[in-house]
Amino acid sequence: MGSLQHFLNGPISVPFSPNLNLRRSFFLRACLNLDVHAPDSVRPKTHLKSREVMEMEGKVLVGTYARNPVVIASGKGCKLYDPEGREYLDCTSGIAVNALGHGDPDWVKAVVEQANLLTHVSNVFYSVPQVELARRLVACSFADRVFFSNSGTEANEAAIKFARKYQRFTNPDEKQQATEFISFSNSFHGRTMGALALTSKEQYRFPFEPVMPGVNFLEYGDVQAATALIKSGRIAAVFVEPIQGEGGIYSATKEFLQSLRSACDDAGSLLVFDEVQCGLGRTGYLWAHEAYGVVPDIMTLAKPLAGGLPIGAALLSEKVAAAIKYGDHGSTFAGGPLVCNAAIAVLDKISKPGFLASVSKKGQSFKELLIHKLGGNSHVREVRGLGLIIGIELDVSASPLVDACRDSSLLILTAGKGNVVRLVPPLIISEQELERAAEIILECLPALDKTN
Ligand SMILES: Cc1ncc(COP(=O)(O)O)c(C=O)c1O
Repeated sequence: MGSLQHFLNGPISVPFSPNLNLRRSFFLRACLNLDVHAPDSVRPKTHLKSREVMEMEGKVLVGTYARNPVVIASGKGCKLYDPEGREYLDCTSGIAVNALGHGDPDWVKAVVEQANLLTHVSNVFYSVPQVELARRLVACSFADRVFFSNSGTEANEAAIKFARKYQRFTNPDEKQQATEFISFSNSFHGRTMGALALTSKEQYRFPFEPVMPGVNFLEYGDVQAATALIKSGRIAAVFVEPIQGEGGIYSATKEFLQSLRSACDDAGSLLVFDEVQCGLGRTGYLWAHEAYGVVPDIMTLAKPLAGGLPIGAALLSEKVAAAIKYGDHGSTFAGGPLVCNAAIAVLDKISKPGFLASVSKKGQSFKELLIHKLGGNSHVREVRGLGLIIGIELDVSASPLVDACRDSSLLILTAGKGNVVRLVPPLIISEQELERAAEIILECLPALDKTN
């Protein structure tokens, strides 16, 4: 069966079928005073209709994505539009990517100006935006040096290689090199063979085994097990997300990260914080680890850094960077002028104390509002998170709620084992838009009873 047919026969409600959901959603949008059509400035230039795009996708793309039945054609701020001009409130931001929302004028200016000047140049030459972005990242973090990549998984691949190289460089005579890694339950670090090996979900790894050997999975937060294994001297690096995104919005405790830090210091292992999803302002802190007062040896970044253009980065302390020599790693596209100039615009905005304070304030009030509105529902187990990375854990699958919200023009994500609603809106979202999102989620909660 073709993927599109599978879609249409599947349990997901499809917005273009004239069903009750659609009428209900139109009514709700009208009540909430949402624009239901794209303003002219963001009206998509495509002649293809949503249905045609979905049908074509099913024929020509490899079926790796279980897509929502929505075609996104344009966006402005926190609003997205399909080719027919239907408007959605975006609480996904391209999975924590579009931190400045869609079409931020300063970001657009940075991209257009740089595209007119120089888009790509090989890393065999120097380029101004790359050096300038690295200088700014170093200035606002624990790090002394930066390696650029094109994605989160590549940033983690770089961290894996740098950790192995660091161990060889610092202990050249050691017979038994520290080559192994520690990763944790509910972790997600990427899809390439090294980062995949560090990713806990078995169904992501099994079909592709053997992945990189030497990864030890421990329970997230298990201080004793982690300390004991680090002490063995076999561990090159410990990879940990201070707040786990894909895994279900679980926050580390201060004690856990502090214990990892001191165990790594004692054994000569490196501590790597994967802040691909939780970093760069999402928590209301510029770096999520600032909330814990614990500093890593390497931090990996990606998603929001270039505001929607592909980028990744591994930020290193000097002691790690000293182990890396010419030719140890590299990438054709990484750190190109266009993405780096876009990233400078993003970093400049997000790193402003006023911007970060607004994320904290909005995140706190949104979480309180969600607890207040949803807390009484028997399916809601917990509302958790920090800043604008929020999870609503349910006692059932979150999919019917995500589908109902979509039909009511709100885009949200799932996480964890599918029973967590993940809310990662653009960081520029207004209090009013957050209230509207909470209202729609509340209105759609009955969907959990209908299908479960
Ligand atoms: C914490 C974390 N690390 C790494 C990745 C992989 O990033 P990418 O999809 O850019 O390769 C993700 C993606 O969701 C992530 O959330």
